[in-house]
Amino acid sequence: MEVTNRYITIKTQVDGDPKVSDFELKTSNLPLSLDPGSNDIIVKNLYVSIDPYQINRMKSQSSSQKATATAGVITPGEGIDAYGVAKVVASGNPEFEKDDLIVGYITWGEYSFLKGGNCVLRKFTPMGLPLSYQVGILGLSGLTAYAGFFEVCKPKKGEKVFVSAACGSVGNLVGQYAKLFGCYVVGCAGSKEKVALLKEKLGFDDAFNYKEEPDLKSALQRYFPDGIDIYFDNVGAEMLEAAVANMNTFGRVVACGVISEYTDATKRAAPSMIDVVYKRIKIQGFLVVDFMNVFSDFLSTTTDHLRTGKLHALEDISNGLESLPSAFIGLFRGHNTGKKMVKVADE
Ligand SMILES: NC(=O)c1ccc[n+]([C@@H]2O[C@H](COP(=O)([O-])OP(=O)(O)OC[C@H]3O[C@@H](n4cnc5c(N)ncnc54)[C@H](OP(=O)(O)O)[C@@H]3O)[C@@H](O)[C@H]2O)c1
Repeated sequence: MEVTNRYITIKTQVDGDPKVSDFELKTSNLPLSLDPGSNDIIVKNLYVSIDPYQINRMKSQSSSQKATATAGVITPGEGIDAYGVAKVVASGNPEFEKDDLIVGYITWGEYSFLKGGNCVLRKFTPMGLPLSYQVGILGLSGLTAYAGFFEVCKPKKGEKVFVSAACGSVGNLVGQYAKLFGCYVVGCAGSKEKVALLKEKLGFDDAFNYKEEPDLKSALQRYFPDGIDIYFDNVGAEMLEAAVANMNTFGRVVACGVISEYTDATKRAAPSMIDVVYKRIKIQGFLVVDFMNVFSDFLSTTTDHLRTGKLHALEDISNGLESLPSAFIGLFRGHNTGKKMVKVADE
């Protein structure tokens, strides 16, 4: 049997702010059977993750493209690999059988052909939890928040934590983990609805709309009169500068992402290096792929917190492959609240 596989690709490299017209929907024929002896897997995509890092892969050039196998440049016209959840349609790989649910690197399309099955991270059973959780809170976004906060920040109870893009996929979880751990947490986000959600639903101690603050340094001084111990940076640029100016001695800045710099090549953070030196501030970048060793700890802790109602899963799901370009572009305009993903098909 053969299907027509619809998939989303870029028309040309995308070097500035992405637009819907940068993307196109293409089709290709895909046989749903495998040659005898093949080790490959064909899956039907169910949910695909929508992540900011993909914009750096779409650029003509970015130093990020050499960092890891999953960060490489995207070629116009070709399929785009992305994290997601899928169901096995055919498998030559002895570890996977037809109808298994898998999570791993699939594609922005209706089906994915996974060479050797080596893009699959794992099989899973939903155990009564929504499949979408595997993409966000129990997937790489969740692991990014967990490993970034516990392994990189190395928090102590009572420390004061600031999180930017706090209503996003990673940010909301960093704040929730930090609260559960016993820290004082303030988040910033780009609308009053997001600010209310952080304070009223997710348990942040405080939150503010950064778009309404003409002077970020003094805003942070107001929210942290005794200084910041940990800044979990998702945005970079002027917010990083303002946070460094408000850090305490031996404060830690974890550079998770710099989304405000991704679509504007002229934007750069210039934090006071005098502050960094004299306050002995540590600024550390990290990539989630370096923390697969804590995945099972993360998964069991997070699942327990979900079941006991201590953690809230914040999701933002669009329906249908056609919605993918606008879902992606929306990340850079603050349209999403929580983990952005596209539901491509029912199970
Ligand atoms: N190091 C790693 O391994 C790793 C892994 C995953 C993600 N990341 C990074 O973590 C960050 C968050 O990713 P995510 O997946 O959780 O995305 P997300 O926060 O769910 O979505 C992006 C959010 O960023 C905010 N934003 C967009 N443009 C902005 C700007 N110019 N200035 C300030 N805020 C802006 C928007 O919220 P507002 O409404 O608040 O503006 C938007 O909703 C990104 O920088 C991403 O690249 C890193």
